[in-house]
Amino acid sequence: MSAPLYDKLLKHRRENIYPFHMPGHKMGRGIPEWDIFSMDITEINGFDNLMNPKDVIKEAEEKMAALYGAEKSFFSVNGSSGSLIAAVTAVCREGEKIIAARNCHKSVYSAFVFSGAVPIYVYPEQIPNTDITGGIDAEKIKKAIYENPDAKAVIITSPTAEGICSDVEKIAEYAHDNGMLLIVDEAHGAHFPFSDILPKSALEQGADIVVQSMHKTLDAPTQTSVLHIGTKHVDSQRIMKTLSMIQTSSPSYIFMSVMDKCRDELEKNGRKRYKIFMDKIRLYRQKFNFKNMRLLDEKYIGKYGIKDIDISKLTVISKNIKGTEIASKLEERKIVLEMSCPGHFTAICTPSDDDEGFIRLKKALFEIDNEIKKNGSADLCMPYPKMEMIYKPRDAFYMNEGEIDFEKSAGFVSAEFVIPYPPGIPVIVPGEKISRKAIDIIKNYAESGVEIVGCTHQRLEKIRILS
Ligand SMILES: Cc1ncc(COP(=O)(O)O)c(C=O)c1O
Repeated sequence: MSAPLYDKLLKHRRENIYPFHMPGHKMGRGIPEWDIFSMDITEINGFDNLMNPKDVIKEAEEKMAALYGAEKSFFSVNGSSGSLIAAVTAVCREGEKIIAARNCHKSVYSAFVFSGAVPIYVYPEQIPNTDITGGIDAEKIKKAIYENPDAKAVIITSPTAEGICSDVEKIAEYAHDNGMLLIVDEAHGAHFPFSDILPKSALEQGADIVVQSMHKTLDAPTQTSVLHIGTKHVDSQRIMKTLSMIQTSSPSYIFMSVMDKCRDELEKNGRKRYKIFMDKIRLYRQKFNFKNMRLLDEKYIGKYGIKDIDISKLTVISKNIKGTEIASKLEERKIVLEMSCPGHFTAICTPSDDDEGFIRLKKALFEIDNEIKKNGSADLCMPYPKMEMIYKPRDAFYMNEGEIDFEKSAGFVSAEFVIPYPPGIPVIVPGEKISRKAIDIIKNYAESGVEIVGCTHQRLEKIRILS
C-alpha cells in the first residue's frame, strides 16, 4: 500500500461497518457533506485568534457559553485531554493539593505531572460482580475536604465512559463551603442539556469548571472540546494562559467552525432531535433482553454512589463471556463498539445513529447471546485496586529509574503509568507502590485483549521502577 493509513480508512469506509463509537456524527451520518479543505485556513485578517479571541471566535465562544449556561466558554482543539490539563494547571501550583477521584482519565494524571499538584485520592464505589466503577460518594469527598482543608480544588469524572454520574451538586456544595473549586470532567456528557431524560449537566449543578468533548457525543470531529467556566470564582485569564500553553499555535478552523455550527444546530433543533432519539433509545433498550448480558440501567441509581445514569449509552454487563470477546464477535459482523473490557462493553449512541444500526446491533447481540455456552469463559471481574502513593506523580516522573520483571514487581514503586486502554484510567501511577492485586488486574485486562499504554514495555515483560 502506498499510503497505509489513508488507504485503510478508505477501505474501512467502503465496508459497511457500523460505528457504535465516537465521534458522535457517526462517520458523517449526522452532518452534511462539507468541502473541508476549502475551509482550512489559518489566522488571516478578520478570523481572530483562539489564543486571544476578540472578534469572530469570541462571538462563537459567547454563543456556546449562552447555550450551556456558562459564565464563559473556551474552544479547545486538543480534546478534553488538553482542557483537563489546562484546568488543573490553572488551578493548582506546585505542591498544592487537589482532591481527585481515582478513576479520572489519564490526562488528569498528566496534569499532576505538569503542574506538580499533589493528588489526594478518593476511590470510586464499585458495582459488585462487575468491573465497572460506580459513582464518587459525596460523603467521601466531604471527609477528604475535612482532612485536607488546604486543598485548592476537587476533580471528578461525571459521567464515566459507561454513563455513571455522581452527585455533582452535593460535591459542589461541599467544595464551595470550604473555598475549593470543583472541576468536572464531563467529556462524555456534552449532550446532557438537550433532554430532561438525561442527567443534569454539571454546570447546572454548580461546578466551577466543566470540560466536555464535543466529539464524543455530538456532531463534531475528533479533538473538539469545550472548557466551560461555571462560576465567578475561576480566574479565566489564567485558564486562557494554560489553554494556550498546551495547544497548537495553529488551531484548525475546521474544528472551530464545526464546533460553532454544531452549537447552532443544537440551539435550533437540539431538544427536538434528542426527543426523537431518546424515545428510540428507550424502545431499543426494552428489546435488549439477553440471557448472558444485562444493560446498566436506572435500577442502579441510588446505589454505589450513582446519582444518575446516561441511558443514551448502551453499557452491557456480560456473563459467561468476556466483554472483549463480544466486541470481537461484533466486529466479525462489521459492528464496532466504543469500548470493551473483561466484564462489560459500551456502545455510544447519538441522534446521528440510524435504525439500521440499532437493528443490526440487536440482531448480532441476540445471535451472540445464543452462541454463549452456559458457564463458558468465567467472569473475571475485579474491583479497582487501592494504591499507596509513595511519591507525588511529578516527583516520581523525574526520579531515576530502573527495571524489573513485571511479575515480580509487587512492593516496588512504579516510575511509570500502566493504563488499560480503554478505559484509559491508570491502574498504576508513577510514585505508587505496585501491589499484587494491581499486577493481576493489569494481566487480566491484557489477557482479555485490552491494550496497555503509558508504560515502556507494553507486553508487560518488565516495568520501570524508581531506583
Ligand atoms: C472520562 C474521559 N475524560 C477525558 C477524556 C479525554 O477526552 P479527549 O479524547 O477529548 O481528549 C476521555 C477520553 O476518552 C475520557 O474517557
